[in-house]
Amino acid sequence: MTKILVTGGAGFIGAHVTDRLIKLNHEVLVVDSLKTIGGIPFINRKCKFLKGDITSKATLKKIKKWKPKIIFHLAAQSCSETAYDNPKEDYLSNGMGTYLLALLAKEIKVKYFIYTSSVSVYGSKLKNNITEKSTIEPDSIYGISKYAGEMFVKQVLYKTKIKTAIFRIFNTYGPGENLNFLRKGMVSIFCGYLWKKKPIIVKGSLNRFRDFNYIDDCTKILTNTIENKKLKKNELFNLSAGKSFTVKKLIFEILKTNNKNKYSIKIQKGTQGDSFGYHASNKYLRKKFDNYKFISLKQGLKKYFNWINKIPNKKNLTNYHPLKIKND
Ligand SMILES: NC(=O)c1ccc[n+]([C@@H]2O[C@H](COP(=O)([O-])OP(=O)(O)OC[C@H]3O[C@@H](n4cnc5c(N)ncnc54)[C@H](O)[C@@H]3O)[C@@H](O)[C@H]2O)c1
Repeated sequence: MTKILVTGGAGFIGAHVTDRLIKLNHEVLVVDSLKTIGGIPFINRKCKFLKGDITSKATLKKIKKWKPKIIFHLAAQSCSETAYDNPKEDYLSNGMGTYLLALLAKEIKVKYFIYTSSVSVYGSKLKNNITEKSTIEPDSIYGISKYAGEMFVKQVLYKTKIKTAIFRIFNTYGPGENLNFLRKGMVSIFCGYLWKKKPIIVKGSLNRFRDFNYIDDCTKILTNTIENKKLKKNELFNLSAGKSFTVKKLIFEILKTNNKNKYSIKIQKGTQGDSFGYHASNKYLRKKFDNYKFISLKQGLKKYFNWINKIPNKKNLTNYHPLKIKND
């Protein structure tokens, strides 16, 4: 049993990561400001929970007192589109917050620091087969702040004895996303319209393309990191399934999963900071994680709708968090 801090542990990915760490018998402290975007906020009853902001001195002091041995740092303003609503908050959480947490990790000498970065750091110029060595050229507020976070991890921790792993996550989808929030997570947005029985609104071209990974795969990769003996002291990975899908094909698969041949789709103007397309090579990740096999988009959507179709059309999804259903 290891003492593990999960920042952002009440958010979409963080809640799943927390749950798996608890199942693996670790003692988990979740620190979260509960400003969750796109996920249904969920606090696992089996973890210690501290409501707080990672940029606040009082919060950092409490973390220091608890003395985690491992930090999973997921807390972030996590949406590219909403970053434009409040760029200062985006930078403070993602850039400054990561700097402060890395300094704390150094001071209390944690063993491992795992940081969830984003595909957004590559910017919108790159397209197919992005590798970890591809040029970094963030051109969105969110991409810039997530990359600032990476640079702080490097600057503060690379020369210490602390192991680090940075994951540039590509679009993750699955149960636990907030289907009422139609500004983050392409898969969740389209599924949300279907769940609400409303026309699917596509902002931008149907030919845009993405690389999607299912939440269970993302969770397993992140949590397997700490026991993975193949990893070097400082690692950097693209976390993606490595398959490219156009928006058109994604919508086709979503409709097919629900046995719908026809559905109303409305195309609107694209959003600021949105990339036309990206697709990653996950060769390095798979090499280091025993040839990890990601589930297909078809399988992932099936699992996603097994959950979605059980939820009545309500505004508040709190009681329908998949982990609440599973753990209660
Ligand atoms: N979901 C994706 O597809 C995706 C893709 C790329 C990167 N990521 C990264 O993965 C991580 C998790 O994303 P998510 O989709 O679960 O987002 P999320 O918004 O659901 O979760 C983030 C959590 O962090 C918390 N938080 C935000 N700012 C905070 C602060 N200053 N102090 C304390 N808590 C704070 C929020 O309340 C939220 O619960 C983020 O770092 C995000 O940038 C996610």
